[in-house]
Amino acid sequence: MFLPSLLALVLASSATGLVTKDGSGRLPAMGWNHWNAYRCNINEDKILSAAKSIQDLGLQDAGYEYINIDDCWSVKSGRDPVTNRILPDLTKFPAGISGTAKTLHGMGFKVGLYSDAGSKTCGGYPGSLYYEDIDAATFSEWGIDYLKYDNCNVPSSWPSDEYNNCHPDYNHPTGPNATCPDDPNVAPPDYDWSTSSTAKRFKRMGDALLKQDRTILYSLCEWGQAGVETWGDSIAQSWRITDDIFPYFARIRHIVNYNQFRLNYVNFWGHNDADMLDLGNGNLTTVEARTHFALWAAMKSPLLIGTDLSVLASELVDVLKNPYLINFNQDPIVGEPAMPFNWDWTYNDAQPAEYWAGKYRNSGEILLLMVNWGEEEKTMRAAFGVVPSTTARGAYEVTDVWTGKDLGLQRRFVEATVEPHGTAAFMLRALEPV
Ligand SMILES: *[C@@H]1O[C@H](CO)[C@@H](O)[C@H](O)[C@H]1NC(C)=O
Ligand SMILES: *[C@@H]1O[C@H](CO)[C@@H](O)[C@H](O)[C@H]1NC(C)=O
Repeated sequence: MFLPSLLALVLASSATGLVTKDGSGRLPAMGWNHWNAYRCNINEDKILSAAKSIQDLGLQDAGYEYINIDDCWSVKSGRDPVTNRILPDLTKFPAGISGTAKTLHGMGFKVGLYSDAGSKTCGGYPGSLYYEDIDAATFSEWGIDYLKYDNCNVPSSWPSDEYNNCHPDYNHPTGPNATCPDDPNVAPPDYDWSTSSTAKRFKRMGDALLKQDRTILYSLCEWGQAGVETWGDSIAQSWRITDDIFPYFARIRHIVNYNQFRLNYVNFWGHNDADMLDLGNGNLTTVEARTHFALWAAMKSPLLIGTDLSVLASELVDVLKNPYLINFNQDPIVGEPAMPFNWDWTYNDAQPAEYWAGKYRNSGEILLLMVNWGEEEKTMRAAFGVVPSTTARGAYEVTDVWTGKDLGLQRRFVEATVEPHGTAAFMLRALEPV
């Protein structure tokens, strides 16, 4: 939806990412994935009715364009003995994955599928390690536009990584800045993780996908291991940054705490994936769900809805459609995410950064979030001059992102009373571009 000359300019200025011919993957992917709603209990009806709900609820119009089938879609007992292809489970998908994909394409969606960089998927279905070329060709033939690629069941014959990267999700509770002094196997500071065994295992499928005459976005579900943020960009459009999300607030907070130290790896064509959205699941309250969505949008994570849409509360549908946050996440002009400010960069799972700001469309507009991670209501204030890209003498038109209400011209600061686990979110517009 942007001018070709502008696109050319932007392409020229971000040479490091994996650029696709059709431009897909430049911005964070938006869509729906079945896993958090249905796990292995899937069939074509469930996928197609989710797609219909995405349309009926106005989510397709809001930008959610990928319908992603996760694990458990294939014949579990193994590949076709003659062709070596993975076979679709025809009891779940009577028209095959290609038939479901055709229907979804007819509805205006793109289609995602799932496999694994090991001998079996996490659910025990055939994995793609050593079958990358044949599987990529099969997925391409079926009309697949997006591949989520998991990390289970790596055979013992495959070399393990020489080092570990102190990821707190894997028995290193001291955090990403820490040096893992207790671990003799920690990587030296100058170690190039793109040479790791894990990186090589994931690159095999990346290479196979690039051989197809179809754009298939590559979404690494590698759980943040092996310093993936330092090399994901060279083979894929997005990479998971942690182990799985779970639908309760402490897990949301943990993922934010980890990801906030790694946001300088996010830009056009390459995005830290904070994992699927859990709005509507578990015990997240509406207030917590807003915080979850605001931060995923602000960090420019892919936005993949992961819930049963037929029972999703309308107030949460509205959160998923929030135009200010979606426009920030999908900004065609500024690739960088919002960043923490007014914070000491301490790694603390209970207390990630509270204040966040990011430039929007380079026109003097700024997204400002003030997050109350604590258990008491509190008044939070962001002063102009302290909010990045603002000036102390500036005056800003302020819009409340949750209500769309114009709060008028503000001088010196923005202030809000923020509920426990809640987020105040504002768009600031300078009277003149800053
Ligand atoms: C953690 O990393 C950040 C960003 O690289 C740095 O500014 C900060 O000083 C580090 N904190 C600690 C406790 O080492
Ligand atoms: C939400 O669920 C998690 C995980 O089951 C649990 O640890 C937490 O205490 C629950 N929180 C509330 C407020 O019920």
